[in-house]
Amino acid sequence: MQSMSDYYSAVQLRSDHWSTLRQSLDQLARDPEGRYAKSTRAKVVAMFNALETIERYWAFPGIQAFDHMRRQFETGHVEDVAFTVRRAARALVTGAYRRRHIPLDRDMDDKDENEDEAILSPDARALAKPYFEVMIVDDVNEHQERWLRQNLASMRRPDDAFTYAPVVVPTLQDALIGVLFNHNIQAIIVRPGLKMESKVDLDLLTRYLKLAGGIDAIKDMNPEDYGPELCRLIAKVRPELDAYLVTDRSVEEIAGLDLGICRRVFYNQEDFMELHLNILRGVQARNKTPFFTALKEYSKQPTGVFHAMPISRGKSITRSHWIQDMGAFYGPNIFMAETSATSGGLDSLLEPHGTIKEAQELAARAFGAKHTYFSTNGTSTCNKIVVQALVRPGDIVLVDRDCHKSHHYGMVLAGAQVSYLDSYPLNEYSMYGAVPLREIKHRLLQMKAEGKLDRVRMLLLTNCTFDGVVYNVERVMEECLAIKPDLVFLWDEAWFAFARFGPTYRQRTGMNAANNFRERLRTPEHAKAYAKQQEKLVDADMDKLLKTRLIPPPNARVRVYTTQSTHKTLTSLRQGSMIHVNDQDFKGEVEQAFHEAYMTHTSTSPNYQIIASLDVGRRQVELEGFEFVQRQVEAAMSMRRAIATHPLLQKYFKVLSAGDMIPAEYRESGVSSYYDAEQGWTDIWDCWEQDEFVLDATRITLAVGGTGWDGDTFKTKILMDKYGIQINKTSRNTVLFMTNIGTTRSSVAYLIEVLVEIAKELDELLDDASKMERMSFERRVKNLTQDYPPLPDFSRFHEAFLSPGSTNEGDIRTAFFLSYDESKCDYLELDGSIKRAMKEGRDVVSASFIIPYPPGFPILVPGQVVSEEILAFMRALDVNEIHGYRQDLGLRVFTPEALADLTTKTTAQAAK
Ligand SMILES: Cc1ncc(COP(=O)(O)O)c(C=O)c1O
Repeated sequence: MQSMSDYYSAVQLRSDHWSTLRQSLDQLARDPEGRYAKSTRAKVVAMFNALETIERYWAFPGIQAFDHMRRQFETGHVEDVAFTVRRAARALVTGAYRRRHIPLDRDMDDKDENEDEAILSPDARALAKPYFEVMIVDDVNEHQERWLRQNLASMRRPDDAFTYAPVVVPTLQDALIGVLFNHNIQAIIVRPGLKMESKVDLDLLTRYLKLAGGIDAIKDMNPEDYGPELCRLIAKVRPELDAYLVTDRSVEEIAGLDLGICRRVFYNQEDFMELHLNILRGVQARNKTPFFTALKEYSKQPTGVFHAMPISRGKSITRSHWIQDMGAFYGPNIFMAETSATSGGLDSLLEPHGTIKEAQELAARAFGAKHTYFSTNGTSTCNKIVVQALVRPGDIVLVDRDCHKSHHYGMVLAGAQVSYLDSYPLNEYSMYGAVPLREIKHRLLQMKAEGKLDRVRMLLLTNCTFDGVVYNVERVMEECLAIKPDLVFLWDEAWFAFARFGPTYRQRTGMNAANNFRERLRTPEHAKAYAKQQEKLVDADMDKLLKTRLIPPPNARVRVYTTQSTHKTLTSLRQGSMIHVNDQDFKGEVEQAFHEAYMTHTSTSPNYQIIASLDVGRRQVELEGFEFVQRQVEAAMSMRRAIATHPLLQKYFKVLSAGDMIPAEYRESGVSSYYDAEQGWTDIWDCWEQDEFVLDATRITLAVGGTGWDGDTFKTKILMDKYGIQINKTSRNTVLFMTNIGTTRSSVAYLIEVLVEIAKELDELLDDASKMERMSFERRVKNLTQDYPPLPDFSRFHEAFLSPGSTNEGDIRTAFFLSYDESKCDYLELDGSIKRAMKEGRDVVSASFIIPYPPGFPILVPGQVVSEEILAFMRALDVNEIHGYRQDLGLRVFTPEALADLTTKTTAQAAK
């Protein structure tokens, strides 16, 4: 049997316990007097005991049914209980109980059982009423519980849009455990009889309480405050849920309280019809998809098409003799929904007033933003929109140098003075981490010393990075605002849209941090702490300021933007992205410019299918994002564990842990691995709360240097060509496996199988290898794992492009456009003329972006001086793809004359 520390989550534990119970009972039923009957019986008892604690939080099969099964077993009805458990366990695995009633009694036939075998057709599934569970929090006896259940059940109507089943728990703590454990729960009814402390004693469950935080502080609370407090606590961990507070306190008292996710307060304990209708309406508010619904409706209406879109209604296809296969492949609906109309229930993305506007508002609610804008051209466009809306020519922007190329192009378009920040390097794996806070603070303090702080407009960082390094977002904003209280933050969350729906992940998203921070800035405690720190920091020098955790002034402005590729981590068609805004000065200062920037970059013919998919993707996360993200993390964790503990895999591969990807100085918790073969799982909550950087465990970097293949060869020649496994990121000696909300346990199992097969083949190959072959293998491994080129820092902008009086920030736009003039450019070869030029003391300055894949970000930008380190790195890169570098000509650089000319001009301008 597995020990408790083998489980990452209580959901996995539950599922395994049901499966063990089912197997053991089947065995007993088959052979009740067999050799192992005694130990099997003991196993059944142990499973019943363990499941008893867990089943209280779930409506199916329900604690009453569960108790009944147990009694059947205790009274010797083994065959009966084996039957019931088999049916229940199966329904749990297939999720059939969420589609229809499952009769658990042996005498009752389950007519639809076979339907689940051949998973229902999408059309049949679409017609089924969605199911959810409602948690009632009240300390009631068995009789009262039955009364509550019956009353709610009797309110059901055939035309209700959803069906639900109640779960009753007695205490505030149980309710918190319940909402974090049971993903079926969509609504909570908090009744006045609830108690505080849970009797449950299972670490996998009680650790959920940590996520809710602040539990210790409320232990001495007045019992009449438990209800409102519960609503507030749930708002922190599952903000998408609805709560209904039933209370006997006065309206005036309740009116003054912060009630978190509470949608309505009920004063009449027996008003079950109102409660029922509110529960349904609450779920419907999340289920609704204004634009998708409008598009579906539109596609059903008869219309004559007299606009420029022959594919609309499939007309140009159905009449064709040559492109019928396109119609057959996509089916009719997509063409029925293709239109350029903006009326008839549809809307204009550029000037939304109807269903798109509403869909965006719902998305803002779901992602914790004040405003959300859809984009049908990916986050690449979102980034340019935000930068153009906020950055004026000449504004200084602090940018992480290894950010996505859209930011660098955005800087060119906006005419920003770019101040590049260096991420910490991971030389061993040829990849970068993220920018340490100390480096950001240092740059800001430097700017302050140079009297330039008023020109610093924005800090732009990638959270999380492609490789999964995640910032402590709130802390970064806090300390930066202490230096520059109106700084604008753009967090590129292209890879992090899903994070909102995992309570641990959510804390490190831009929107959540902005909301928390806004609240905190207003408190008297914050004002006091700020005043106290100011006294201490009088005359503080740079070193002291860097070492101190700075507190921002209470009047600091919270100005946060995030851009997310919904299509990368959630349900959306490719290119579906969102911009989330949480900026206190948006209305007054930015809205108009934002509108213009949006117009600049958005097509006048945005794709309606993408917009509809964003709308539906939002519905999904509000109703099942929590469940899907939880499942994704579980799949990733089991993958990490399987690779880390497999003896054969360890010979050639290594899953990089937080300790490998984040230097110890940025891991204050001291946690270096989320799974340890001896200690089992680490509670990741602690590190996610404290550490400067954490690792998103759902992105798994595998070091493959031990196989003798570099990352790119391993990706294309082995994974893709031989096994049909697709990945898209590699470094010199690593490959990145990304899990997503669609990753299944069986896809993880397949990957492990493949890795084992690769390892076995390598074993065999080396077994039969000649001495020479073996030496060659060892040399390749050494080359990949020990001889690594150090990653170069950003060198510097040439003085022709530096902003006047600066040694740092540069005018990338001038450099970019200067390169349009052929006469000002030249080509130098990597292994010849560049080296010679540099030896002669000449500044070799790149005229274009040079972007090798991998790593996929510019190692040179226009106007940047080529350094020895960059040159060495470029030479060591054995990649075929270097964008911007011409194999036939070399590197495009500025001529010395062009640089001299421009330098004279800029110096003269500065002097004026
Ligand atoms: C960090 C980051 N930002 C932005 C983007 C661009 O996103 P999209 O592909 O949605 O345009 C990417 C794409 O890989 C990315 O990695």
